Amino acid sequence: MTILVTGGCGYIGSHIVHALHDAGEKIVIIDDLSTGFRMLPPLHIPIVVQSIGKKKVLQDVFERFNPDIVIHCAGSLIVEESVKNPSMYWNNNVVNTSALIDIMLYNSVKNIVFASSAAVYGTPTGVIHENIPCDPVSPYGRTKLTAEQMIRDATLAYGINHVILRFFNVAGADPQMRTGESHANTTHLVKVAAQAVLGLRDNMDIYGCDYPTKDGTCVRDYIHPSDLAQINLLACQYLRNNEVPTTLNVGYGHGYSNLEVVAAMKSAANHTTNLYKYNSRRAGDPPSLVADTRKLFRTLQYIPKHDNIDEICRTALEWERKLNFTYGKNGWPAIG
Ligand code: UFG
Repeated sequence: MTILVTGGCGYIGSHIVHALHDAGEKIVIIDDLSTGFRMLPPLHIPIVVQSIGKKKVLQDVFERFNPDIVIHCAGSLIVEESVKNPSMYWNNNVVNTSALIDIMLYNSVKNIVFASSAAVYGTPTGVIHENIPCDPVSPYGRTKLTAEQMIRDATLAYGINHVILRFFNVAGADPQMRTGESHANTTHLVKVAAQAVLGLRDNMDIYGCDYPTKDGTCVRDYIHPSDLAQINLLACQYLRNNEVPTTLNVGYGHGYSNLEVVAAMKSAANHTTNLYKYNSRRAGDPPSLVADTRKLFRTLQYIPKHDNIDEICRTALEWERKLNFTYGKNGWPAIG
């Protein structure tokens, strides 16, 4: 049995591929390398360098590798970018997911683990349970929610089985330093802070200091990608056991403010001088996103191993050092 991982050369996808590989699974990746890097997953795993929007290519992948499960990570995921360029998000996250479902159905492949996002919720208050109404505030969140609904409709009509995983804020790097977040021009807080403490950028901005939170800055539930990868592995086992379709939050159930994250990064780097200045709020940012994780842990029986903001910051920093040492200030070469 083979697992097809779309977007397996990306930050999250490559952590999942390493975890599957460590567990002895057979894997094939499809990734157009628009935001992924060929060197992040284990080198000998087959990679088809194409967009999943190309149905003929997808069909060929299904015929050659005969997967029993698809872990669908390919897509665009930056909230602010989606506000500026929504068409790209509707194409990458919705149109391409529709193509993937068509090819799955054509080949009678019935299992999908879908990488969705906490962005589907919008601006909820309090800890977020999966059952609250979704009201996304960014094109990114709307495209992820639409793709989720497409998958649920395919479940009802054609019997596809699914585990939809709503990722909260993924941050940190593989403790063995095999993979990590690799875009020099990142917008993600933990990586930006790692670059700032290493002097790879002059300064960093904290967007907004007047949110209704503990210190006025946004609060997020940061989850280490190694835990997230194990959760994907368990989701595959869940589908192979023919359990019922489900949607799960993937976080740790507690949040850190932007200021707390910056403090943790400063401590990881023994950095003592000021690191940030305040800027205005960023479009599409909800004040607080913290997961209710009871359903996740009940359903998959998972105990997190990296629930520690200091470890998240330490591994992100170590990865940033590795990138900088190997490739200089601009991170990995532009083409994977
Ligand atoms: N932030 C700063 N300065 C920066 C970068 C970020 O203050 O230089 C702030 C943001 O304004 C926000 C918080 O840090 O308040 C987190 O922002 P990130 O960009 O790190 O992450 P997001 O919460 O915007 O989004 C991430 C993923 C989404 C996913 C979401 C789920 O990019 O795909 O987490 O919670 F949907």
